[in-house]
Amino acid sequence: MLKLNNVHSFYGNIHALKGITLEVMEGEVISLIGANGAGKSTALMTTSGIVPAKRGSVEFKGEDITHMPPDEIVKKGICQVPEGRRIFSYLTVAENLDMGAFLRNDTRKIKTDMDYVYDLFPILAERKNQAGGTLSGGEQQMLAISRALMSHPKVLLLDEPSLGLAPIIVKQIFGIIKKINEEQKTTIFIVEQNANLALKAAHRGYVMENGLISLSDTGENLLANENVKKAYLGI
Ligand SMILES: Nc1ncnc2c1ncn2[C@@H]1O[C@H](COP(=O)(O)OP(=O)(O)O)[C@@H](O)[C@H]1O
Ligand SMILES: [Mg+2]
Repeated sequence: MLKLNNVHSFYGNIHALKGITLEVMEGEVISLIGANGAGKSTALMTTSGIVPAKRGSVEFKGEDITHMPPDEIVKKGICQVPEGRRIFSYLTVAENLDMGAFLRNDTRKIKTDMDYVYDLFPILAERKNQAGGTLSGGEQQMLAISRALMSHPKVLLLDEPSLGLAPIIVKQIFGIIKKINEEQKTTIFIVEQNANLALKAAHRGYVMENGLISLSDTGENLLANENVKKAYLGI
């Protein structure tokens, strides 16, 4: 469904992606793990066109989207939840969700999707008239994911959904990510430093080091891999 072919990306002179190749199949949950600064966020931003690839290509459903502007890529059905969530603090929970649906005009289906996210995260239903900025970190992450779901994406790109959250909330969020994949058939591409939960939730995973992919395997095999255990799982 999504293919990165020998992708190179830069910030000025900084060579952040040094030729990465990876593939996300329709219906999969893929986790890309790696240390801080490895290039994980850049991989997502290159996919969504925010940091366009200088060399190599990005393909979505067989179409070359390497040089497509970010808004066109969103319209294709690729939706990114950026690191640090970035919800609209002064808008209510319900208004944040409406913003996620702004490209749509299928009013009835929007209502169904809104009911679905309130069902996934009942706390958001309780807080629907509360300003986004007054939510806890975990609730803001739930809102950011829900807002992305309101665009009814084919592929959901999640940048460090666990960042700064308490372990119990992280577990809950990963459980719901799996549920979204299973119930909505949404393809999900996660980048994470929390390798343990990210690999447990994934069908397949990639390990990134210094702008390159160093390993790829099923989530299960990566969790059992001695190098992954030492470098990323602390065991
Ligand atoms: N806006 C930016 N300007 C310059 N360098 C950046 C910028 N964003 C990231 N980088 C650099 O690119 C490399 C990859 O960063 P990033 O993709 O954010 O890594 P990760 O998400 O794995 O922590 C790092 O060396 C980082 O310092
Ligand atoms: Mg990052």
